[in-house]
Amino acid sequence: MLQSISKASVHAFYADAIPHGRNTAENLQAATSERFNTLLESIDNQTPRTALDLGYGVGNYTLALARAGFRVVAVDQIPCTSLLRRIGSAGDWAHQIEPRRCLAEDFTIDEDFGVVVAKDVLHYLTRHDVETLLTRAVAQAHGANHHYLEVFTGIARSSPSGQLLRIEGEADCSPTAFQHVIEEIYAGWDLSFHWSDHAEQDSRTGRTCFEATRATVIAANPAA
Ligand SMILES: C[S@@+](CC[C@H](N)C(=O)[O-])C[C@H]1O[C@@H](n2cnc3c(N)ncnc32)[C@H](O)[C@@H]1O
Repeated sequence: MLQSISKASVHAFYADAIPHGRNTAENLQAATSERFNTLLESIDNQTPRTALDLGYGVGNYTLALARAGFRVVAVDQIPCTSLLRRIGSAGDWAHQIEPRRCLAEDFTIDEDFGVVVAKDVLHYLTRHDVETLLTRAVAQAHGANHHYLEVFTGIARSSPSGQLLRIEGEADCSPTAFQHVIEEIYAGWDLSFHWSDHAEQDSRTGRTCFEATRATVIAANPAA
């Protein structure tokens, strides 16, 4: 039987793990990916110097964007205190970061963000919310914008006793369905997809508790 996990308990998990600096099976403290670093280095000054990081977590992507000279709006459902603490002890460049405590699905994109990052967060939203959010981001994009998305697709979760788990309302897209959604929303943009298998083990039992295909999407708006 499929057991449902509430969204509230997922939110509470991160609100506890992140301020306490806990590393989890998903490696919350991981440095920014090579793919993202390469993208950031390639962005020239035709791209608006504003960025949006949805579900910033410990803030590594937010800080990398700010260090590269972007004003960053950083959105997460956790309290802003842990990110504010990091900003406080970082360089002057970090003061370009605006943390917002907000659900990604409730955040209204009303400006032309040069860069949008959503890493390991969109799979928690409903499919409708993912589509609405990205459609809005695309509608507001008028420069040489770049979107970097890492999204889990084809997810299989299980409890320590082997019971199948599902988070209420989660998008639960297959890789193919997700690719179709992205191709529709980003029509006319340059798109690249990279797919990789992802698995996480329960530290107590050693059993695999999460398996998915990770989609990494890099979308570039040629409309500059
Ligand atoms: C797996 S972490 C990813 C953190 C970061 N993007 C990274 O890859 O290093 C997921 C983050 O998304 C946040 N989150 C989950 N659901 C959310 C939602 N509906 N709205 C905003 N943030 C959410 C969590 O609080 C957590 O910080």
